[in-house]
Amino acid sequence: MTTAPVLRSLLFVPGNQPRMLEKALGLAPDAYVPDLEDSVPLEEKENARGVVASWLPSLAGAGPLVIPRINSLDTGLLEDDLAAVVGAHIFGVSVGKIQSAQEVERIAAMLSDLERKAGLDVGRIRLVPWIETAMAIVDAYRLCASSPRVVGVAFGAEDFTRDMGIERTANDAEILYPRSVIAVAARAAGVLALDTPFFGFRDPDGLRQDAATARSLGFRGKFAIHPAQIDIINETFSPSPAEIEQARRVVAAFEAAKQQGRGSTSLDGQVIDVPVVRRAQRLLEVAEQTGGTE
Ligand code: COA
Ligand code: MG
Repeated sequence: MTTAPVLRSLLFVPGNQPRMLEKALGLAPDAYVPDLEDSVPLEEKENARGVVASWLPSLAGAGPLVIPRINSLDTGLLEDDLAAVVGAHIFGVSVGKIQSAQEVERIAAMLSDLERKAGLDVGRIRLVPWIETAMAIVDAYRLCASSPRVVGVAFGAEDFTRDMGIERTANDAEILYPRSVIAVAARAAGVLALDTPFFGFRDPDGLRQDAATARSLGFRGKFAIHPAQIDIINETFSPSPAEIEQARRVVAAFEAAKQQGRGSTSLDGQVIDVPVVRRAQRLLEVAEQTGGTE
């Protein structure tokens, strides 16, 4: 199994907006997500396909991973979308409104065909399915574990609440359950949980709070819809210097206790035992990956 990439911030760019694609080249999210799905109106779908295909080489050359988002299987657009984006310039494909593990398997088979035709190694194109319907929540673990191509799964709160026929509220109570299901299913399958975009793109404090909630549940990154969201998301999903320092103290205290033949100890009046030290070690691994320990 390949190690998971760092995917803290994934910037959506509407696929029919060359001006925004150009702008994206000067930004540094962990991934670009040129979108062919819901930010592109139906009458623009074909145009967007051509625009995105022509921008893939420049996007890939800019540094961030490129993960176009394409339309769901039931739209009849997916085959042409896939054919337009599959190639050496993309890291993976994100697919909207995935309903089940079987859908992932079907798309994975289509990718294998396209990879063969393009002379690419079969299996190299990764998948980021969107879990944003009641059915997908019910099938979440199988969906996350359905293919080695799946590197992460995305939670879409707007489509989820639409599918449920419920209101989207300011306190987010209605999305705690699906978010929790996705975080746990993703972890169990060893893939990244990636959180729904925050639509208030002129509300940095709201974004920070929303991203922190997602992180606290186990999400490892979040989609951005506007350039101003990238830094806040990267910061929220990177361990802070204080967290890194505390984790190092925890590991050191535990090591010292181990030298004395003890399996637990205390630090600042808190018990340090195996799960606590493992959590600290995991935080240090993430910090290492995001450059926080340099
Ligand atoms: N990617 C790249 N550039 C973007 C961008 C994005 N997602 N969103 C905005 N920009 C650019 C704008 O083009 C503008 O560039 P300019 O200064 O060269 O004119 C600059 O950033 C500032 O944008 P701003 O004026 O603050 O916002 P806007 O009114 O142009 O756009 C939105 C606001 C929400 C319409 C726009 O951010 C957007 O379309 N986001 C993507 C939405 C999306 O993908 N939704 C689907 C996922 S749910
Ligand atoms: Mg959606």
